[in-house]
Amino acid sequence: MHDHTAKPQTKAEPSTRVFAVLAEFPSGDEMLEAARKVRDAGYTKWDTHSPYPVHGIDEAMGIRRTILPTIVFVCGLTGALTGLALQWWTSSVYYPVIVSGKPMFSLPANIPIIFELTVLFSAFGAVFGMFALNGLPSLYHGIFNSGRFNSRMSTDRFYISIEAADPKFNRDSARKLLESIGGQSVEVVEERAAVEFPPMLRKWGITALLVLGAFALLPPLYTLRARTRTSEVTRMQLIWDMDQQPRFRAQMKNPLFADGRAMRPQVPGTVARGEAFADDHLHRGLVDGRFAATNALPVTESLLQRGRKKFDIYCAQCHGLDGLGQGMISVRAERLQEGTWVPPLSLHDEVVRTREDGHIFNTITNGIRTMPPYGDQIRVEDRWAIVAYVRALQRSQNATLEDVPSDRRGELP
Ligand code: HEC
Repeated sequence: MHDHTAKPQTKAEPSTRVFAVLAEFPSGDEMLEAARKVRDAGYTKWDTHSPYPVHGIDEAMGIRRTILPTIVFVCGLTGALTGLALQWWTSSVYYPVIVSGKPMFSLPANIPIIFELTVLFSAFGAVFGMFALNGLPSLYHGIFNSGRFNSRMSTDRFYISIEAADPKFNRDSARKLLESIGGQSVEVVEERAAVEFPPMLRKWGITALLVLGAFALLPPLYTLRARTRTSEVTRMQLIWDMDQQPRFRAQMKNPLFADGRAMRPQVPGTVARGEAFADDHLHRGLVDGRFAATNALPVTESLLQRGRKKFDIYCAQCHGLDGLGQGMISVRAERLQEGTWVPPLSLHDEVVRTREDGHIFNTITNGIRTMPPYGDQIRVEDRWAIVAYVRALQRSQNATLEDVPSDRRGELP
């Protein structure tokens, strides 16, 4: 005979243990009031649940201020120091590059990266710190095992749960406390063991995970392979824009032209814009193929003034305002490069004083030895103005008595 009163024994009951004692309250105010009492009873691991935010609940529960701001501050500080250290180390220790004699490390130039890393690290600290502190994302919570809670909590009821994890927890005293402070339908919520998967699902699930895992390895392996090989194929690009438009490069074939060359030779008898160097003296500083001895422009006071202005802009940083070669860049570079810096020639050097005007013009236009060219930056007329001013500078350092007007020679010491 089968005993119908006995529980069916087809499946072993999942093992259970108490998760919490749960009490229901009809209104937020009552829950708030009760929360104060639970707090005063000395519980620490307990919670309130409400369909909407209840003002004053933090204080009623005795929740202390979060330490998140401290975490964010520490992360931000770490970011700032990382940015600072990274830039200092790369630019002045690991790979120092001298740029116009500028300092290897200077705070103002490094502020943007420091700022960015401060923001980045702070943001990470805020987001991950928040998740770590509030335990989210969490797909499961023991309190969900109460059917009553599930059906009413997000609608019209308020709950207080005292969890078994609380060091003071005792099922009966917790129940008594909740009842004494107005809790209704007080129930003990059990925590079920984690859900049991059917064996079929477990077996195939693991197989599926293994297969997916193996597939996930393919992209990184493909990337590794690509790093060690060359390929004729254009790399994968989702948005093409105009990066890969068909075009002809130098040395390619172009069937459009009879000779098949993509690179077109100059058309005889034509001059490109801005390249009409008709006047050799003016544009190249040459007369009959040799450096011109004289300035291509009439030397007037306004030309000298113009030359001085341009010299102070383009030349003085290396050659110095006086042309002696003690410009800021030179002074700094000499200190930083420890003997490998080629100092600018003093413009009062015998060599430079005996150069033709055309030679100095050519030096400005095309550069000379380690001096870079300035032809692209300074207009032809201004280059000649500078030449005239350099001459004036040279004269200022090597003047003779004949250079002083005869009627004023008496004023000299
Ligand atoms: C970046 C630094 C720098 C700047 C800017 C610069 N020079 Fe120089 N200049 C040099 C150096 C370095 C030399 C010596 C090169 C060498 O000996 O290898 C030099 C040499 C010269 C010489 C002598 C060349 C010769 O042997 O006859 C003249 C003249 C000269 N510079 C004129 C100018 C003028 C004019 C300007 C402004 C348009 C100018 N430089 C701007 C660095 C500079």
